[in-house]
Amino acid sequence: MLFRPATEADLGRLLHCAVGEPVSWAHPERLRSFLADGHYRYDRVWVAEQDGEILARAVWWGFPGTGPLALDCLYSHPSVTDRVTLAADLLRHAHDAFGDRPAYHVFLPVGWRDNHAVAAAVGWRHEACRRAGLTDELERLRYAWTPGSPVPEPSGRLIFREEPDDEAFVAAFAAASAGSLDHHTRQALLVKDPETQAREDLADYLAMPGDRSWWRLACTPSGELAGFALPSANASGPVVGYLGVLPEHRGRGYVDDLLAEITRCHAARGARRIAADTDTGNLPMARAFERAGYELFAIRLVLSANPVNT
Ligand SMILES: CC(C)(COP(=O)(O)OP(=O)(O)OC[C@H]1O[C@@H](n2cnc3c(N)ncnc32)[C@H](O)[C@@H]1OP(=O)(O)O)[C@@H](O)C(=O)NCCC(=O)NCCS
Repeated sequence: MLFRPATEADLGRLLHCAVGEPVSWAHPERLRSFLADGHYRYDRVWVAEQDGEILARAVWWGFPGTGPLALDCLYSHPSVTDRVTLAADLLRHAHDAFGDRPAYHVFLPVGWRDNHAVAAAVGWRHEACRRAGLTDELERLRYAWTPGSPVPEPSGRLIFREEPDDEAFVAAFAAASAGSLDHHTRQALLVKDPETQAREDLADYLAMPGDRSWWRLACTPSGELAGFALPSANASGPVVGYLGVLPEHRGRGYVDDLLAEITRCHAARGARRIAADTDTGNLPMARAFERAGYELFAIRLVLSANPVNT
Protein backbone atom coordinates (compact mmCIF):
# COMPACT_ATOMS: atom_id res chain seq x y z
CA MET A 1 0.00 0.00 0.00
CA LEU A 2 1.35 3.41 -0.97
CA PHE A 3 0.42 6.38 1.27
CA ARG A 4 1.08 9.72 -0.38
CA PRO A 5 -0.22 13.25 -0.92
CA ALA A 6 -2.28 13.70 -4.08
CA THR A 7 -1.10 15.59 -7.14
CA GLU A 8 -2.99 17.44 -9.85
CA ALA A 9 -2.75 14.32 -12.03
CA ASP A 10 -5.00 12.49 -9.50
CA LEU A 11 -7.93 14.90 -9.90
CA GLY A 12 -10.10 12.60 -12.04
CA ARG A 13 -9.70 9.69 -9.64
CA LEU A 14 -10.18 11.91 -6.57
CA LEU A 15 -13.51 13.09 -7.98
CA HIS A 16 -14.61 9.47 -8.21
CA CYS A 17 -14.13 8.86 -4.46
CA ALA A 18 -17.83 9.17 -3.59
CA VAL A 19 -19.03 8.64 -0.01
CA GLY A 20 -22.45 6.98 -0.09
CA GLU A 21 -22.85 6.99 3.70
CA PRO A 22 -24.93 9.69 5.47
CA VAL A 23 -21.98 11.68 6.81
CA SER A 24 -20.43 15.00 5.73
CA TRP A 25 -17.68 14.63 3.11
CA ALA A 26 -15.72 16.44 0.40
CA HIS A 27 -18.07 15.88 -2.52
CA PRO A 28 -16.86 16.55 -6.08
CA GLU A 29 -18.25 20.08 -6.37
CA ARG A 30 -16.71 21.10 -3.02
CA LEU A 31 -13.42 19.42 -3.94
CA ARG A 32 -13.19 21.28 -7.24
CA SER A 33 -14.12 24.71 -5.86
CA PHE A 34 -11.96 24.44 -2.71
CA LEU A 35 -8.95 23.20 -4.72
CA ALA A 36 -9.46 26.24 -6.94
CA ASP A 37 -9.68 28.81 -4.10
CA GLY A 38 -6.98 27.34 -1.84
CA HIS A 39 -9.17 26.01 1.03
CA TYR A 40 -8.07 22.55 -0.16
CA ARG A 41 -4.62 21.80 -1.63
CA TYR A 42 -3.29 18.67 -3.33
CA ASP A 43 -0.61 18.26 -0.66
CA ARG A 44 -3.41 18.18 1.96
CA VAL A 45 -5.37 15.47 0.18
CA TRP A 46 -3.79 12.14 1.08
CA VAL A 47 -4.49 8.82 -0.60
CA ALA A 48 -3.84 5.14 0.07
CA GLU A 49 -3.13 3.59 -3.32
CA GLN A 50 -2.70 0.00 -4.48
CA ASP A 51 -2.19 -1.14 -8.08
CA GLY A 52 -3.10 2.37 -9.26
CA GLU A 53 -6.43 2.38 -7.39
CA ILE A 54 -7.32 4.83 -4.60
CA LEU A 55 -8.53 2.71 -1.67
CA ALA A 56 -8.76 5.52 0.88
CA ARG A 57 -8.74 9.30 0.77
CA ALA A 58 -8.47 11.97 3.47
CA VAL A 59 -9.07 15.67 2.78
CA TRP A 60 -7.96 18.51 5.04
CA TRP A 61 -9.29 22.06 4.97
CA GLY A 62 -7.45 25.29 5.82
CA PHE A 63 -7.58 28.98 5.01
CA PRO A 64 -5.44 29.79 1.95
CA GLY A 65 -2.03 30.54 3.41
CA THR A 66 -2.44 28.59 6.70
CA GLY A 67 -1.54 25.02 7.58
CA PRO A 68 -4.20 22.28 7.45
CA LEU A 69 -6.80 23.20 10.10
CA ALA A 70 -9.45 20.47 9.94
CA LEU A 71 -9.99 17.02 8.48
CA ASP A 72 -13.11 17.30 6.31
CA CYS A 73 -13.47 13.87 4.75
CA LEU A 74 -12.48 10.27 5.34
CA TYR A 75 -13.35 7.90 2.47
CA SER A 76 -12.64 4.24 1.92
CA HIS A 77 -13.39 2.20 -1.19
CA PRO A 78 -16.28 -0.30 -0.71
CA SER A 79 -13.89 -3.20 -1.48
CA VAL A 80 -11.74 -2.48 1.61
CA THR A 81 -12.43 -5.05 4.33
CA ASP A 82 -10.55 -3.40 7.21
CA ARG A 83 -11.32 0.29 6.68
CA VAL A 84 -10.41 1.25 10.25
CA THR A 85 -6.82 0.04 9.91
CA LEU A 86 -6.38 1.50 6.43
CA ALA A 87 -7.83 4.90 7.37
CA ALA A 88 -5.80 5.03 10.61
CA ASP A 89 -2.59 4.31 8.64
CA LEU A 90 -3.47 6.97 6.10
CA LEU A 91 -4.07 9.56 8.84
CA ARG A 92 -0.83 8.65 10.60
CA HIS A 93 1.22 9.12 7.40
CA ALA A 94 -0.36 12.51 6.74
CA HIS A 95 0.01 13.62 10.38
CA ASP A 96 3.73 12.77 10.25
CA ALA A 97 4.11 14.86 7.10
CA PHE A 98 2.12 17.79 8.54
CA GLY A 99 3.83 17.65 11.95
CA ASP A 100 0.31 18.20 13.32
CA ARG A 101 -2.92 16.29 13.92
CA PRO A 102 -5.77 18.59 12.87
CA ALA A 103 -9.18 17.75 14.31
CA TYR A 104 -11.84 15.90 12.30
CA HIS A 105 -15.12 17.86 12.02
CA VAL A 106 -18.19 15.77 11.11
CA PHE A 107 -21.57 17.41 10.49
CA LEU A 108 -24.49 15.27 11.63
CA PRO A 109 -28.26 15.44 12.07
CA VAL A 110 -29.78 16.03 15.51
CA GLY A 111 -30.37 12.63 17.18
CA TRP A 112 -27.73 10.94 14.98
CA ARG A 113 -26.94 8.23 17.54
CA ASP A 114 -30.43 6.80 17.05
CA ASN A 115 -29.99 6.60 13.28
CA HIS A 116 -28.29 3.28 12.54
CA ALA A 117 -26.81 4.28 9.16
CA VAL A 118 -25.37 7.54 10.49
CA ALA A 119 -24.03 5.90 13.66
CA ALA A 120 -22.32 3.20 11.54
CA ALA A 121 -20.77 5.80 9.21
CA VAL A 122 -19.40 7.66 12.23
CA GLY A 123 -18.36 4.46 14.02
CA TRP A 124 -15.48 3.27 11.82
CA ARG A 125 -14.24 6.80 11.20
CA HIS A 126 -14.25 7.48 14.94
CA GLU A 127 -12.18 4.36 15.64
CA ALA A 128 -9.69 5.16 12.84
CA CYS A 129 -9.26 8.69 14.24
CA ARG A 130 -8.79 7.36 17.76
CA ARG A 131 -6.02 5.02 16.57
CA ALA A 132 -4.36 7.94 14.78
CA GLY A 133 -4.29 9.99 18.00
CA LEU A 134 -7.53 12.00 17.70
CA THR A 135 -8.70 10.76 21.06
CA ASP A 136 -10.77 13.70 22.38
CA GLU A 137 -14.44 13.76 21.45
CA LEU A 138 -16.68 16.81 21.55
CA GLU A 139 -20.18 17.45 20.29
CA ARG A 140 -21.14 20.98 19.35
CA LEU A 141 -24.72 22.10 19.02
CA ARG A 142 -25.40 24.10 15.84
CA TYR A 143 -28.03 26.80 16.18
CA ALA A 144 -29.46 29.29 13.71
CA TRP A 145 -31.60 32.40 14.06
CA THR A 146 -33.82 33.34 11.14
CA PRO A 147 -36.12 36.36 10.78
CA GLY A 148 -39.12 34.25 11.91
CA SER A 149 -37.70 34.63 15.44
CA PRO A 150 -38.02 37.94 17.30
CA VAL A 151 -35.40 40.69 17.35
CA PRO A 152 -35.15 41.53 21.07
CA GLU A 153 -35.37 45.09 22.40
CA PRO A 154 -32.50 46.28 24.64
CA SER A 155 -33.31 45.57 28.30
CA GLY A 156 -31.21 48.50 29.50
CA ARG A 157 -29.50 46.33 32.11
CA LEU A 158 -26.14 46.61 30.31
CA ILE A 159 -24.61 49.51 28.42
CA PHE A 160 -22.78 48.55 25.24
CA ARG A 161 -19.87 50.49 23.83
CA GLU A 162 -17.46 50.19 20.95
CA GLU A 163 -13.83 49.83 22.05
CA PRO A 164 -11.08 50.28 19.43
CA ASP A 165 -8.29 49.08 21.76
CA ASP A 166 -7.71 45.34 21.22
CA GLU A 167 -5.99 45.14 24.63
CA ALA A 168 -9.35 45.77 26.34
CA PHE A 169 -10.75 42.68 24.58
CA VAL A 170 -7.65 40.62 25.47
CA ALA A 171 -8.31 41.46 29.13
CA ALA A 172 -12.04 40.67 28.81
CA PHE A 173 -11.38 37.33 27.03
CA ALA A 174 -8.80 36.35 29.67
CA ALA A 175 -11.16 37.26 32.56
CA ALA A 176 -14.13 35.36 31.04
CA SER A 177 -12.05 32.22 30.50
CA ALA A 178 -12.05 31.55 34.27
CA GLY A 179 -14.58 28.79 35.02
CA SER A 180 -15.59 28.56 31.36
CA LEU A 181 -17.62 25.50 30.32
CA ASP A 182 -16.33 25.83 26.74
CA HIS A 183 -14.26 22.75 25.83
CA HIS A 184 -11.80 24.58 23.58
CA THR A 185 -11.05 27.15 26.30
CA ARG A 186 -10.72 24.52 29.03
CA GLN A 187 -8.35 22.39 26.94
CA ALA A 188 -6.27 25.40 25.96
CA LEU A 189 -5.92 26.49 29.60
CA LEU A 190 -4.35 23.13 30.44
CA VAL A 191 -1.30 24.11 28.41
CA LYS A 192 -1.22 27.92 28.29
CA ASP A 193 -1.94 30.90 30.49
CA PRO A 194 -5.21 32.89 30.13
CA GLU A 195 -3.54 35.90 28.49
CA THR A 196 -1.80 33.81 25.79
CA GLN A 197 -5.06 32.01 25.16
CA ALA A 198 -6.95 35.33 25.00
CA ARG A 199 -4.50 36.73 22.44
CA GLU A 200 -4.89 33.64 20.25
CA ASP A 201 -8.69 33.82 20.44
CA LEU A 202 -8.59 37.49 19.55
CA ALA A 203 -6.31 36.83 16.56
CA ASP A 204 -8.75 34.15 15.33
CA TYR A 205 -11.71 36.55 15.52
CA LEU A 206 -9.73 39.35 13.85
CA ALA A 207 -8.96 36.92 10.97
CA MET A 208 -12.65 36.22 10.40
CA PRO A 209 -14.56 38.17 7.76
CA GLY A 210 -16.76 39.90 10.40
CA ASP A 211 -16.30 43.65 10.98
CA ARG A 212 -14.16 44.66 13.98
CA SER A 213 -16.41 47.72 14.53
CA TRP A 214 -19.30 45.41 15.56
CA TRP A 215 -17.51 44.29 18.75
CA ARG A 216 -18.86 45.65 22.04
CA LEU A 217 -17.86 45.80 25.70
CA ALA A 218 -20.82 45.59 28.09
CA CYS A 219 -20.90 47.49 31.39
CA THR A 220 -23.39 47.69 34.23
CA PRO A 221 -25.07 51.11 34.76
CA SER A 222 -22.47 51.74 37.51
CA GLY A 223 -19.69 51.35 34.92
CA GLU A 224 -18.39 47.91 35.87
CA LEU A 225 -17.30 45.66 32.99
CA ALA A 226 -19.74 42.69 32.96
CA GLY A 227 -19.02 41.06 29.61
CA PHE A 228 -18.40 41.44 25.90
CA ALA A 229 -20.07 40.54 22.61
CA LEU A 230 -18.31 39.80 19.30
CA PRO A 231 -20.79 39.50 16.44
CA SER A 232 -18.82 38.08 13.53
CA ALA A 233 -19.10 36.28 10.19
CA ASN A 234 -17.60 33.34 8.36
CA ALA A 235 -17.56 32.47 4.67
CA SER A 236 -21.23 31.39 4.89
CA GLY A 237 -22.55 34.58 6.51
CA PRO A 238 -23.24 36.18 9.92
CA VAL A 239 -22.35 34.21 13.07
CA VAL A 240 -22.80 34.92 16.76
CA GLY A 241 -19.02 34.83 17.12
CA TYR A 242 -18.25 34.98 20.82
CA LEU A 243 -19.64 36.37 24.03
CA GLY A 244 -18.52 36.15 27.63
CA VAL A 245 -19.77 37.14 31.06
CA LEU A 246 -17.10 37.86 33.70
CA PRO A 247 -17.24 35.28 36.52
CA GLU A 248 -18.39 37.75 39.20
CA HIS A 249 -21.41 38.69 37.04
CA ARG A 250 -22.57 35.16 36.15
CA GLY A 251 -25.98 33.80 37.14
CA ARG A 252 -27.86 37.05 36.44
CA GLY A 253 -28.94 36.20 32.91
CA TYR A 254 -26.58 38.75 31.31
CA VAL A 255 -25.92 36.11 28.64
CA ASP A 256 -29.39 37.00 27.28
CA ASP A 257 -28.49 40.70 27.00
CA LEU A 258 -25.22 39.94 25.18
CA LEU A 259 -26.82 37.49 22.77
CA ALA A 260 -29.66 39.96 22.13
CA GLU A 261 -27.10 42.67 21.28
CA ILE A 262 -25.47 40.32 18.74
CA THR A 263 -28.82 39.35 17.21
CA ARG A 264 -29.80 43.05 16.93
CA CYS A 265 -26.44 43.92 15.35
CA HIS A 266 -26.90 41.39 12.54
CA ALA A 267 -30.69 41.82 12.15
CA ALA A 268 -30.28 45.60 11.78
CA ARG A 269 -28.10 44.95 8.73
CA GLY A 270 -30.76 42.66 7.23
CA ALA A 271 -29.28 39.25 8.15
CA ARG A 272 -31.45 36.36 6.89
CA ARG A 273 -29.65 33.83 9.08
CA ILE A 274 -27.29 33.98 12.08
CA ALA A 275 -25.40 30.77 12.83
CA ALA A 276 -23.92 29.75 16.18
CA ASP A 277 -22.22 26.75 17.76
CA THR A 278 -21.78 25.81 21.39
CA ASP A 279 -20.66 22.69 23.24
CA THR A 280 -23.20 20.23 24.62
CA GLY A 281 -21.53 20.80 28.02
CA ASN A 282 -22.05 24.58 27.92
CA LEU A 283 -25.64 24.40 29.16
CA PRO A 284 -26.07 28.07 30.17
CA MET A 285 -25.12 29.05 26.59
CA ALA A 286 -27.32 26.41 24.93
CA ARG A 287 -30.29 27.50 27.05
CA ALA A 288 -29.69 31.13 26.12
CA PHE A 289 -29.84 30.24 22.40
CA GLU A 290 -33.12 28.42 22.96
CA ARG A 291 -34.63 31.32 24.95
CA ALA A 292 -33.62 33.69 22.16
CA GLY A 293 -35.41 31.63 19.49
CA TYR A 294 -32.30 30.09 17.88
CA GLU A 295 -33.16 26.70 16.39
CA LEU A 296 -31.01 23.59 16.94
CA PHE A 297 -30.55 22.25 13.40
CA ALA A 298 -27.45 19.99 13.50
CA ILE A 299 -24.56 18.58 15.48
CA ARG A 300 -20.87 19.04 14.78
CA LEU A 301 -18.77 16.15 16.11
CA VAL A 302 -15.15 17.16 16.66
CA LEU A 303 -12.46 14.49 17.18
CA SER A 304 -9.15 16.03 18.19
CA ALA A 305 -5.75 15.27 19.69
CA ASN A 306 -5.49 15.82 23.43
CA PRO A 307 -3.38 19.00 23.85
CA VAL A 308 -1.57 17.58 26.89
CA ASN A 309 -0.41 14.51 24.91
CA THR A 310 0.47 16.45 21.76
C1 LIG B 1 -21.91 30.94 29.14
C2 LIG B 1 -21.97 32.25 29.93
C3 LIG B 1 -21.95 33.40 28.96
C4 LIG B 1 -23.29 32.26 30.75
O1 LIG B 1 -23.46 33.53 31.31
P1 LIG B 1 -24.50 33.88 32.50
O2 LIG B 1 -24.99 35.26 32.24
O3 LIG B 1 -23.88 33.61 33.81
O4 LIG B 1 -25.67 32.83 32.25
P2 LIG B 1 -26.98 32.62 33.16
O5 LIG B 1 -27.12 33.79 34.08
O6 LIG B 1 -28.12 32.33 32.24
O7 LIG B 1 -26.66 31.31 34.00
C5 LIG B 1 -27.58 30.26 34.19
C6 LIG B 1 -27.09 29.34 35.30
O8 LIG B 1 -25.81 28.77 34.88
C7 LIG B 1 -24.80 29.08 35.83
N1 LIG B 1 -23.56 29.34 35.10
C8 LIG B 1 -23.32 30.30 34.19
N2 LIG B 1 -22.05 30.21 33.74
C9 LIG B 1 -21.49 29.17 34.41
C10 LIG B 1 -20.20 28.60 34.39
N3 LIG B 1 -19.23 29.06 33.58
N4 LIG B 1 -19.95 27.55 35.19
C11 LIG B 1 -20.92 27.04 35.99
N5 LIG B 1 -22.19 27.55 36.05
C12 LIG B 1 -22.46 28.61 35.26
C13 LIG B 1 -25.30 30.34 36.51
O9 LIG B 1 -24.70 30.51 37.77
C14 LIG B 1 -26.79 30.08 36.59
O10 LIG B 1 -27.01 29.17 37.65
P3 LIG B 1 -28.38 29.23 38.51
O11 LIG B 1 -29.48 28.95 37.52
O12 LIG B 1 -28.18 28.17 39.54
O13 LIG B 1 -28.44 30.61 39.05
C15 LIG B 1 -20.78 32.38 30.90
O14 LIG B 1 -20.65 31.19 31.64
C16 LIG B 1 -19.45 32.62 30.23
O15 LIG B 1 -19.08 33.76 29.96
N6 LIG B 1 -18.67 31.57 29.99
C17 LIG B 1 -17.36 31.68 29.34
C18 LIG B 1 -17.47 32.07 27.88
C19 LIG B 1 -18.40 31.16 27.10
O16 LIG B 1 -18.55 29.98 27.34
N7 LIG B 1 -19.00 31.76 26.06
C20 LIG B 1 -19.87 31.06 25.14
C21 LIG B 1 -19.04 30.44 24.07
S1 LIG B 1 -20.04 29.68 22.82
